[in-house]
Amino acid sequence: MKQNEFKKRRATLMKQIGKGNIAIIASASHRTRNRDVLYPYRQDSDFYYLTGFNESESLAVFIPGREKGEYVLFCREYDEKKALWEGAHAGLEGATEHYAADDSFPITDLDDILPGMLENKGKVFYPMGKDSELDHKLMEWINNIRKQSRTGVSAPGELVSLEHIVHEMRLFKSTEELKLMRRAATVSAQAHCRAMQSCKPGLFEYQIEAELTHEFMQQGLRAVAYPSIVAAGKNACVLHYTENKDKLGKGDLLLIDAGVECEHYAADITRTFPISGVFSEPQKKLYQLVLDAQYAALEQVKPGIAWHIAHEASVQVLTAGLVKLGLLKGKVSKLIKEEKYKQFYMHRIGHWLGMDVHDVGEYKIKDEWRLLEPGMVLTVEPGLYIPANCESVDKMWRGIGIRIEDDVLVTANGHEVLTAAVPKTIADIEALMRGA
Ligand code: GLY
Ligand code: MN
Ligand code: MN
Repeated sequence: MKQNEFKKRRATLMKQIGKGNIAIIASASHRTRNRDVLYPYRQDSDFYYLTGFNESESLAVFIPGREKGEYVLFCREYDEKKALWEGAHAGLEGATEHYAADDSFPITDLDDILPGMLENKGKVFYPMGKDSELDHKLMEWINNIRKQSRTGVSAPGELVSLEHIVHEMRLFKSTEELKLMRRAATVSAQAHCRAMQSCKPGLFEYQIEAELTHEFMQQGLRAVAYPSIVAAGKNACVLHYTENKDKLGKGDLLLIDAGVECEHYAADITRTFPISGVFSEPQKKLYQLVLDAQYAALEQVKPGIAWHIAHEASVQVLTAGLVKLGLLKGKVSKLIKEEKYKQFYMHRIGHWLGMDVHDVGEYKIKDEWRLLEPGMVLTVEPGLYIPANCESVDKMWRGIGIRIEDDVLVTANGHEVLTAAVPKTIADIEALMRGA
């Protein structure tokens, strides 16, 4: 992503903060996995969105109208020894030269410098309650300013959620963001195809996960957007199954929910396919029903349609289909009203997608479901999960879990499916798995 994009975002933010106010946001911290081993570092999405700066121990300050520069970055000073052990870091000069900060200071001087920046400001925008250390420090800084009120300085009087502004910005994807999302989608789609092609009975779920990881990394993308779910047979009925340890049974389906990140932008794809390459009759019937529900939901993804309509479309199709196949009994409208479908379809149709897989942005505005607008990206992912011990349905349906998930951009006239490159019709899946 070019620096210019981050500059544009900061300019938009500055306008919304307004002169006389200040915004503060901290980087993510490193987290220990065990003793000296750290989890892979992932920058805080909001922080990265505004700075493009990928280091921990940093803090960005935005002060509209500040004479010596509106954008201030606190970060680690360059340290040759540290660079030898931990790799390159920008240092104070790098922060201004390469990351376009107007001014930079050592993070170790934060307590000395930041209180001065807060003096005489009206509002402080910051991520309230997200980082207890920052919450605590801010209160300390503000209290210290209060103590000096006799010298004529005043402490900020209002704390405001920064997320409210930044998340609304993040909900609408720019052309530059969409380039990265398309790449994440393309590579994830290729990984799903590879998984389908390498699948055969007797392999283990983790071996299919290895195929996904192989494709992600061969394509130059190292971070998954979330732990890959590779769930064979009844494991697919566990929505967040990530153990990926079981053997692939011949007659079962395999559900894969996996997506990679490209420069902090996620893809999120689910496909469900027969381990042997050919759907059985009951699998076919349930699969086609989920696919029809997805098509019905996708039809409702266009500007001006409220967010929940796609969900309702999927509920309608799934409930009617479950009645037709005999898994539910009764009148469709009554079953929907009484939410009887929820025993088999217990999640919603999808979520916003962006830097976070379950991305930020309000779903309701003033208690009303929000209308879709061009530039929003969401997932459309209906599913059916028939528990293995579900005695109310015929045996042939039990232990089947199916989800079909695509990433969808709302366009001016409708929508574009970013992940269409992975087959999802029964014929196309079987053809790919046959090597046709
Ligand atoms: N992979 C998480 C989800 O589908 O929401
Ligand atoms: Mn999803
Ligand atoms: Mn998913």
